Amino acid sequence: MATIVGAITTSHVPAIGGAIAKKLHQDPYWQPFFAGYPPAREWLAKARPDVVVAFYNDHGLQFFLDKMPTFAVGAAPEYRHADEGWGIPTVAPFRGDPELSWHVIERLIAEEFDLTTCQEMLVDHAFTVPMSLLWPDVDAWPVRVVPIAINTVQYPFPSPARCFRLGQAVGRALEAWDRDVRVLVLGTGGLSHQLDGERAGFINKAFDQMCMEKLVAEPEALTRYSTVDIIREAGVQGVEFVMWLAARGALTGTVARVHASYHIPISNTAAGLLVMENRPRGAAESRAAA
Ligand code: DHB
Ligand code: FE
Repeated sequence: MATIVGAITTSHVPAIGGAIAKKLHQDPYWQPFFAGYPPAREWLAKARPDVVVAFYNDHGLQFFLDKMPTFAVGAAPEYRHADEGWGIPTVAPFRGDPELSWHVIERLIAEEFDLTTCQEMLVDHAFTVPMSLLWPDVDAWPVRVVPIAINTVQYPFPSPARCFRLGQAVGRALEAWDRDVRVLVLGTGGLSHQLDGERAGFINKAFDQMCMEKLVAEPEALTRYSTVDIIREAGVQGVEFVMWLAARGALTGTVARVHASYHIPISNTAAGLLVMENRPRGAAESRAAA
């Protein structure tokens, strides 16, 4: 059986890719942001995932307004990075895991999630920046990947509750995967930010911190927010928080917060990071929950 080691949820601003390429880690603007990540990497070194299942949102690179899947699951042997227009350098291609992808797809469709399946899929900064933060300076990525894109670009969006349930279905699919692999779940996007319009630059620290707190032990409470509620509280692009809900939904055990960091701003975004460990429920606990 696959082991879900935990979830990492993090912001994914393109400027971070530029700062990594220019090695600005010690620059006064960037230092407090990058300082949040070493504890996540230390935890990863112990967690030793073989595969990353990543919830992220494509920003007009692979899917554009003419064709916009609500949920799209990658089933490709390889995923290449391309820059959708930010001018950030591209990173090495990612190795896929088509067998695991198809297993997840079959389970999700059996659970009535009507997905788009992608045997070719380019990935953008929302996928690559978090991977570069978690595995800096590697020539080849040490994990295989299964990207899952959730639409947060073109209305209508799937609700926060639906995204959480998608994550729960992914967690069940992973637990039913009859292979001895260790899986990390990744959720990228948020926290509060709005890139354009009257509220451009909007950030809501109190809301972000409440979300980071509740996500660990009380995620269902956050599924009561509608898409519009989240946009009101966290800005238009703050709706990317649904990736955090999906990733948390995939954790099937007892969830412990291992590390958190929050820094304002990176570009226009409140940059958050949360590391959650998925601990198997003890026998007594599972009996009580049954
Ligand atoms: C920014 C944030 C994002 O989530 C994104 O996708 C693009 C830009 C920003 O703050 O600059
Ligand atoms: Fe984004």
